[in-house]
Amino acid sequence: MSANKIPLAGVIGSPIGHSKSPQIHQHWLKMLGLDGFYIPMDVAPENLRDALLMLPKMGFVGVNITVPHKEAVMDIADLITDRATLIGAANTLIFRKDGKIHADNTDGYGFIENLKSGAPHWDPKSGPAAVFGAGGASRAVLASLLDAGVPEILLTNRTRVRAEKLADDFGKRIRVVDWVQAGNILEDATLTVNTTLLGMIGKQELRVPLDGLRKGSIVTDLVYAPLQTKLLSTAQEMGCTTVDGLGMLLHQAVPAFERWFGKRPVVDSATRAAALR
Ligand code: ATR
Repeated sequence: MSANKIPLAGVIGSPIGHSKSPQIHQHWLKMLGLDGFYIPMDVAPENLRDALLMLPKMGFVGVNITVPHKEAVMDIADLITDRATLIGAANTLIFRKDGKIHADNTDGYGFIENLKSGAPHWDPKSGPAAVFGAGGASRAVLASLLDAGVPEILLTNRTRVRAEKLADDFGKRIRVVDWVQAGNILEDATLTVNTTLLGMIGKQELRVPLDGLRKGSIVTDLVYAPLQTKLLSTAQEMGCTTVDGLGMLLHQAVPAFERWFGKRPVVDSATRAAALR
């Protein structure tokens, strides 16, 4: 980026209209009084490589990557952080001055920071975590929970083999439990996480029996539309601490913004309001 150019960043996906990232980054640019633009871009898979080679020449300092490109960018990037390698996907690219594309994954970071801010008393070492789902989002959650020191993860997924594959990839601290037994793992768990799409507007509800939820435990949902999912409202009624999924989206954006625009933004109620506009 030369001194007199306004830095550009953005998000690449397909479709991209639903993304809240533009509101979040534009809000921070305004709050911090910085020059810059953050632009949503709908790019088809066959054009991804060309787009990523062209954008730095147009003044882009980096981009976020979302569905369906998070895995594909790993083959295009020149440098990949350890955490992105572990997760097998990237959500943040930095276009370096030497022309190299640096790929990172900040989803796990966002997940943990959201938990820390919504449940400050959370002690990762306090007991096992129950995790529903074994898709891409689950990979980021598992990596970050293991990194945070959670002693054991009870992982359950409708398609058991996907959970077994994750347990193989991540090692011994993950125990796979049958989806039909999902309700039984809750009484041991000090943290319960839904990484599936269930409960999202337009999708089915998560039908796991929740009466076993451990009293005083923490429950979080990656679904943020609606903010208050059935899982979270039930958990709240049962006296659990609940953390909604919007904060993960906000916190995962912080390291990228800082790298691209040079200042670290804060996640506060105004950021939440901007994302919900
Ligand atoms: P993401 O990258 O967002 O995690 P994904 O890889 O498509 O998306 O994973 C979606 C998750 O939601 C998976 O755990 C999926 O379970 P399967 O592996 O069995 O497909 C889960 N999921 C989606 N629809 C579901 C349903 N109707 N019942 C149970 N689980 C469901």
